[in-house]
Amino acid sequence: MSRMDDVIVIGGGVIGCSIAYQLAGRGLAVTVLERGRLGGEATAAAAGMLGAQAEMDETGPLFQLSRWSRSLFPQLAEELGALTGIGIGLVREGLLHLAVDEAQEQELRARAALQRAAGETAAWLDAAEAVRLEPALSRELRGALYLPSDGQVEAPQLARALAAGAALRGARLREYAQAQELLVERGRVVGVLTDDGPRYAERVVAAAGVWSGRLLSGIGAELPLAPVKGECFSVLASPGLLRRTLFTPGCYIVPKAGGRLVVGATMQPGSYDRRVSLAGIAGLMQTAQRLLPAIGEAEWERAWSGLRPQSADGLPYLGAVPGYEGLYVAAGHYRNGILLAPATGVWLAALVAGGPAEAAELLAREERQRPGAGSWAAACQAERLGAEAALG
Ligand code: FAD
Ligand code: GLY
Repeated sequence: MSRMDDVIVIGGGVIGCSIAYQLAGRGLAVTVLERGRLGGEATAAAAGMLGAQAEMDETGPLFQLSRWSRSLFPQLAEELGALTGIGIGLVREGLLHLAVDEAQEQELRARAALQRAAGETAAWLDAAEAVRLEPALSRELRGALYLPSDGQVEAPQLARALAAGAALRGARLREYAQAQELLVERGRVVGVLTDDGPRYAERVVAAAGVWSGRLLSGIGAELPLAPVKGECFSVLASPGLLRRTLFTPGCYIVPKAGGRLVVGATMQPGSYDRRVSLAGIAGLMQTAQRLLPAIGEAEWERAWSGLRPQSADGLPYLGAVPGYEGLYVAAGHYRNGILLAPATGVWLAALVAGGPAEAAELLAREERQRPGAGSWAAACQAERLGAEAALG
């Protein structure tokens, strides 16, 4: 089989779907190659938090990229709803980042000061104030950092809506279509070898989550990525038990529609083994009950796991792969791929379809709104890949 696309996107997770949605919206001929089901890997496992503040312990490039991406959700939710009829479950009730001892309180207060200085809302609540907001919370808390701007979505629905939107805009979505290797001729990517033979394109975007490194290593480019397994479970509680997401570094509880609570997540680096362990779930259950005692009465639903794609420095790789004309990467979104999906789609589309001048203009616009807001672009460049890539 030999076909010509403008762009082939490898990987049909939330990142690949978001990129395809934006590229197809510009009228490009796009094919997404997904070796399994669309959104079936890390994306399916995600709790859907938009933790632009909760997940960041500093106000560096990832924070800047995250808050830009978070700001894109309301319009994206509306746009996808109108186009596809699929709701992404955007909830903007905020999040309580809990502290159980004085050290945690000091750390969160310091973080709040940084985030407020950067223009975000972050309010310290003592235990009584936190319980007033969420009456089912444990009384054993020290207090909580209230982050009203951190929302959440239904992650699988977001991926489904982006995929459906991309298809409605003309993109071809191929499930059970594995990219075996990248096809490169004289330093230029010309397509992808699939199970059905070669497929040609002007440009290729590697958006295959933690597996992106394997694709690039096939052409001698180094993309350091490692899996960090996360296990979660869900229960059905009485609707209204919890309105806001509860967050601690080792356990979070995300209230979904109809009283469903998603509890996550373990952090197990280095393994591609997706089996769910009793110890992992038992640990989460214990912590969840300490934070929200009434969760013990809830009805069990299910448990699952997924592999977070972790880069060497915790920042995603976004942009052109040096040494290979026409090849781009969007991978390594680690704990925040749902949050970062809208910005990743817009940014890759600007680079791939618009070119460097349009991308620079986009960054300049961000900078005009908030100095430092475009700092992530340099930090996330694929330029920091291994030396082999630069040599081509
Ligand atoms: P994936 O979703 O893994 O998609 C990559 C796709 O590429 C896969 O479908 C795979 O089959 C396909 N693929 C691989 N190789 C090939 C090939 N050779 N050919 C074709 N296709 C290929 N993020 C948040 O923002 N908020 C959260 O609350 C949150 N919670 C999480 C909870 C857990 C337990 C986990 C595990 C992750 C969580 N994340 C969260 C992180 C988020 O899920 C990931 O960062 C995000 O899903 C990464 O998306 P992706 O598209 O890069 O990867
Ligand atoms: N962002 C939540 C997680 O990765 O578990």
